[in-house]
Amino acid sequence: MLFNGREFVNAARRHDVAPGRSTIVRVGRYEVALFDLGDAIVAYENACPHQGGPIGEGFLEGETVTCPWHAWCFDLRSGRLTLGDFARLRRFDVYVEGDAVFVAREPEEDAA
Ligand code: FES
Repeated sequence: MLFNGREFVNAARRHDVAPGRSTIVRVGRYEVALFDLGDAIVAYENACPHQGGPIGEGFLEGETVTCPWHAWCFDLRSGRLTLGDFARLRRFDVYVEGDAVFVAREPEEDAA
């Protein structure tokens, strides 16, 4: 589906994405972790920028996720490392329509 000129994939059902946990989906060549922040769903590649740990399997506390491999923490609103701005998760745009959660086929920095 095209939205604002970009390609999105129907990746999950809205009611399957809930606060307090992540939902891991496949979007083309990427594995993506979806997080429900209450007023928004955010999506990040399921790969920590440190050494690729599965961030979607990390520990969630409020709007922070802690990588299960070496405990780097990320703010889920921005995707930034909480202890500095030298690393961030790769973010995907999200578009919700009814019960469908659409995720951009490419992460933001790679989008045309
Ligand atoms: S791979 Fe995530 S903190 Fe090392």
